[in-house]
Amino acid sequence: MKIDLRSDTVTKPSKQMLEAIMNAEVGDDVYKEDPSVNKLEESIATMFGKEKALFFPSGSMANQAAIKLHTQPGEQLIADQYAHVYNYEGGGVSFNSGVSCKLINGHRGMITADQVEASINPPDFYHSPLTSLVCIENTTNKGGGACYDFDDIKKIRKVCNDHNLGYHLDGARLWNALVAKQENAKQYGEMFDTISVCLSKGLGAPLGSVLIGDAKIMDDAIRVRKILGGGMRQVGFMAAAGLYAIENHIERLNDDHARAKEIGQVLNTLPFITGVEPIDTNIIIFTIEGDEQEFIAKMEAKGVYFYGMGQGKLRFVTHLDYTQEQHEYFLDLLVSYNTRKAVQTI
Ligand SMILES: Cc1ncc(COP(=O)(O)O)c(C=O)c1O
Repeated sequence: MKIDLRSDTVTKPSKQMLEAIMNAEVGDDVYKEDPSVNKLEESIATMFGKEKALFFPSGSMANQAAIKLHTQPGEQLIADQYAHVYNYEGGGVSFNSGVSCKLINGHRGMITADQVEASINPPDFYHSPLTSLVCIENTTNKGGGACYDFDDIKKIRKVCNDHNLGYHLDGARLWNALVAKQENAKQYGEMFDTISVCLSKGLGAPLGSVLIGDAKIMDDAIRVRKILGGGMRQVGFMAAAGLYAIENHIERLNDDHARAKEIGQVLNTLPFITGVEPIDTNIIIFTIEGDEQEFIAKMEAKGVYFYGMGQGKLRFVTHLDYTQEQHEYFLDLLVSYNTRKAVQTI
C-alpha cells in the first residue's frame, strides 16, 4: 500500500469530480465568457460577502497579485517569519512588487496585533520603507496547520485601520480553519481587504485559487493577473472541479482533522518521538530522536511518504485521498515501530 502524507496537494480528482469537469460548460475566460468560471467567482464572492472574486491558476499567483494590488515598489509588508508569501513564493514579493518584508517571530506562524503595531515603520521617517500591508496565513502551513483565534484577527484589523494598512489573508487552507473552529466565510470577508483561498489543497481540485475582495481593489486584479501571465482560456473545466470541491469537500475536512489528531495521539506514545506540535487541523509536525533521513527512508520502504521540514522537524499531512483503510494500516505500522522500541531496529 502506498500512503502519501507529503502534502494535501497530492490528491487526484475523484470520479465524481472528473464527471463535473467533463460536463462543464466553458468559454474564453480572457473575454470573461466562461460560464463555469463566472459561476465559481460569483459563488465564492457571495460566500465571503465580498463584491468580487477572481480565479487564479495557483495560490502563489493569487497572493502575489494581492501584494501587488496593496503596495508600491519600495514599500514594506509585515508577515510572520514562516509566511508562505515570504518563504515559498520564489521571492515574488521583491520580484513582482519591489516590496520588502518585515518578519515577525510569531507563534506557530501566527502574529499578534501588538507585534504588528511594533513592526510598523513611522510613516514620516523617510529613511525606512513605508509599511503598507499586513499578510497573515490561516491556517498556517509551516506553523503546522495552526488556526488563529478570530479575536486576534480582529485586533490586527484595528491596527491596520489605525495605520491605513492593507490586510491580506493567505487562506490557502482557510477551509480547514472554518470547519475546525466552526467559523463562517462571511466573518472573514468582513475582516480582510483581500483573501486568497485554494481549491487544490484540502478540497482536492487539480488546480485553482480564488482572490476575493471589494470592487475597488479587485477591478485592477484582472490586469495584475494578466501581467503575471495568469489569463486563462477555457478554464471552466477547472472551475467546475472547484465548484464540485466547495459543494462536496468542505465539511469532510473534519475527517482529515480527526485522523491527524489520531496520528498525533499514537506519535505521543512512541519512545523515539521527542515532540509533537499541537494539532489543530490536518498537519502534524513532530521531532524524532536520531537520524530523520533514516526514519524517512525506512517508512518509505513500508510505503509511507512524507517530508522533513529542516531543523529536525518532520511533517505528515492528512487529506482527501488518505483513506480510512490507509489510516488503519498506518496507525498499526506506527504502533509496531513502538513495540520494537527504536527506529534503528525496524
Ligand atoms: C499557506 C500557503 N499559501 C499559498 C500556497 C500556494 O499555493 P500554490 O501551490 O497553489 O501556489 C500554499 C501552498 O502550499 C500554502 O501552503
